[in-house]
Amino acid sequence: MNISERAQALSPSPTIAIDTRAKELVAAGRDIVNLSAGEPDFDTPAHVQEAAVAAIRGGFTHYTPSEGIRELREAICRKLKRENGLEYRPEQVVVTVGAKQALHNALLVLCNPGDEVLVPSPFWVSYTEQIRLAGGVPVTVPTDPAEGFACHAADLEARCTPATRGLMLNSPNNPTGAVYGLADLREIAELARRRNLWVISDEIYEAMVYDGAEHHSIAGLCPERTVVVNGLSKAYAMTGWRVGYAAGDPAVIRAMVALQSQTTSNISSVSQKAAVAALDGPHAPVQAMVEEFAARRGYVLERLSTMPNIVCPAPQGAFYVFPDVSAILGGRAAADAAQLAGRVLDEAGLAIVPGTAFGVRGHLRISYAASRATLTEGMNRLEGFLKKV
Ligand SMILES: Cc1ncc(COP(=O)(O)O)c(C=O)c1O
Repeated sequence: MNISERAQALSPSPTIAIDTRAKELVAAGRDIVNLSAGEPDFDTPAHVQEAAVAAIRGGFTHYTPSEGIRELREAICRKLKRENGLEYRPEQVVVTVGAKQALHNALLVLCNPGDEVLVPSPFWVSYTEQIRLAGGVPVTVPTDPAEGFACHAADLEARCTPATRGLMLNSPNNPTGAVYGLADLREIAELARRRNLWVISDEIYEAMVYDGAEHHSIAGLCPERTVVVNGLSKAYAMTGWRVGYAAGDPAVIRAMVALQSQTTSNISSVSQKAAVAALDGPHAPVQAMVEEFAARRGYVLERLSTMPNIVCPAPQGAFYVFPDVSAILGGRAAADAAQLAGRVLDEAGLAIVPGTAFGVRGHLRISYAASRATLTEGMNRLEGFLKKV
């Protein structure tokens, strides 16, 4: 059978590939510490689990409207108002299979063939592939590590052409942890208006900010041009439940719902009930998790600061550090950290992700969404490896 050109052009997610390889090695009996994963190691809060069990027992196990049950869309509107100061009606919200499907569907309804979409780099692995899948052309916009990988409107404007239609924003950023300040967001919103660009704002890590950093949604500055994308995977430790959502202009959301009605129909009915319980329930579990992430971040940064040839500025958000390891790669051209990550896995039994997966060289991404014991062992292994090389 012939595989379509579309599918042939698609590369599989490198982060999922590394995580899978680490799990395979474990299954084969190898002792592997996995710091490659992008998911909280905590359990889904108990009251959320209970809501799902009640939904199953109560027979809430059938199709739902494609856009998601009204009860959940209302809970999402309350959340967006309470936590982000954003006003949406339930008709402006669609519930999706994780934030990933919200991004994919938003791109499918916004991109025409050949449309250029700006992507600040480093970027989350799926953006460029999803843009290509939608027929668009990703245009990466490099950011400066010396400035904490902040992306400014002037950097974006420098890459604009008559074919530029939109941009992907991700704050807090995966993998760098960069959190966009209000001043930058204002200028980017102004650019979007002036150039008539749409903005897809991926805010999945909004709960994880540190050292007094604050998350702001660009939707508060240019609501008419923005599709806000968020989900429950990270904040509520609900990766496996697959609950994400998008909010924005009613016409865009209607198109996303139509697309969903012809593809995946609706997300699991049980997950929707669980999501209502999470969003309307106590914030304490989220807070406790973020406090634990903050402590782990401090530990990892302290350990890395004593390791040779590693430069690791403190990221303001998400749950990753993104150290510069070009000094280790040395003359071999900040070559690519992929080989280094491969050696760390093979020789030290530590799974981490090379920066090349996110469009940049000379960096590694280390997740601290792992227990303190796992982090300690991971840091010991990395240190031992670096002393050897
Ligand atoms: C930046 C970013 N956006 C979106 C997602 C997708 O999350 P989900 O589909 O689980 O909601 C992830 C997951 O790692 C991510 O890192």
